[in-house]
Amino acid sequence: MRIAVIGAGYVGAVTATCFAEFGNEVVCVDKMEEKVKAFSQGEPPFFEPGLKELLVSNLKQKRLFFTTDIDTAIRDALVVFLAVGTPPRGDGSTDISSIIEVAKIIARNLDGYKVIVTKSTVPVGTTYLIRDIIEENKKIGVSFDVASNPEFLREGSAIYDFMHPDRVVIGAESDSAIAILKDLYRPIYLRDTPFVFTDIKTAELIKYVCNSFLAMKISFINEVANICDIVGSDIHVVARAMGLDNRIGPKFLHPGPGFGGSCLPKDTLAMVKIAENIGYDFKLVKATIEVNNLQKERAVSKIVEVMEGDVRGKVIALWGLSFKPNTDDIRESPAVYIAKRLIELGAVVKAYDPAALENAVSEIDNPNFIPMEDMYDVLKGSDCLVIATEWSQFRNADIERIKGLLKKPIVVDLRNVYEPENMKKMGFIYRGMGRSLKE
Ligand code: UGA
Repeated sequence: MRIAVIGAGYVGAVTATCFAEFGNEVVCVDKMEEKVKAFSQGEPPFFEPGLKELLVSNLKQKRLFFTTDIDTAIRDALVVFLAVGTPPRGDGSTDISSIIEVAKIIARNLDGYKVIVTKSTVPVGTTYLIRDIIEENKKIGVSFDVASNPEFLREGSAIYDFMHPDRVVIGAESDSAIAILKDLYRPIYLRDTPFVFTDIKTAELIKYVCNSFLAMKISFINEVANICDIVGSDIHVVARAMGLDNRIGPKFLHPGPGFGGSCLPKDTLAMVKIAENIGYDFKLVKATIEVNNLQKERAVSKIVEVMEGDVRGKVIALWGLSFKPNTDDIRESPAVYIAKRLIELGAVVKAYDPAALENAVSEIDNPNFIPMEDMYDVLKGSDCLVIATEWSQFRNADIERIKGLLKKPIVVDLRNVYEPENMKKMGFIYRGMGRSLKE
């Protein structure tokens, strides 16, 4: 099948590459020439485990192409996926101007039947808007269908998630569109993956409520961790007991400095706005956002507290800058928020991250932010170590070496990478999230 994917961001590039891997002929379009060039040379412009290998192999087999020529890509395709950015506006609502622009381009290139599918996370009703724009601007006599096929992949495990989804959601309202999309997903369909076929608006809504629920789960466990800190309980025991209840489940119950990334923060805000627009006050999602904002600040307070109330003139070693491990993405990263706040409070931050250092340097442009290439170098002469992202190399770090390099053995472990008892035994002043043992 011939497919065009418009937008070579995370979702677009992964979707294009994986559909090519399924044996389709895929053209992925982006406005940015540099991006197109990088992908065409087999060099993804961002870090995503497994993407490069799959990209190179499908480029070689001439099933995958990257281009800036959107007109030809659309004309040649039977299915056109929209995976362009839908960034938040200042008021939390979603900017769908790129979607509208692409819909107009599709209309002028519609030379035969095509299925136009939204993969980007778009507010409820957007796919109908696309349908109306194409209808108004297309040549008379050509037919098309629209569909919504939200993506649930996570950064850092995007390829695996695309290939092994928990479910595929297809919002389509014509038999041809359903048949074509079913055919496209055949390799996954054959593996007994559950498929949810529904109407278009419901599919759009499902995406927002899933991300909002995941965000709510994180904010919930973060609040429980805060309570554990006060009463002296261990959040890991509490979360394990919670997770053993099949109705709750063990995933997304890891406390930390708040959720970040390009999706959960944006989609929770958009969910509130979507509800507001239909006259509904979505209180739980509002509270989820509020708790998340407080959590980032709570993490800062934890560091200030262990530094005896003042970080002015202190040198803080920071491990982790990306919003989660296995990505170089720092969008809405709690780690970056913490670094900025510590600098604002008068500290010097020496930071290490295996992948996100370069991105962080362009975001935190301050002489008191010192990026370093070696995780142990940041510790030399520092007043404490803060772990903000749980990269696995931090889990396996040489604890004795950490102790030897720091001025004082103080560790603020915002991701609960280490065991509090062990750290205490080794002579550390240790703070975790919901499992700190006070001296
Ligand atoms: C999220 C969703 O998990 C995906 O299903 C969805 O497809 C994607 O958004 C999207 O809409 O495109 P992602 O942003 O890649 O995926 O990252 P997550 O794994 O959800 O993590 C988000 C944040 O929550 C991270 O900062 C992470 O550290 C934090 N988190 C996650 C916790 O603090 N605790 C947890 O238990 C889980």
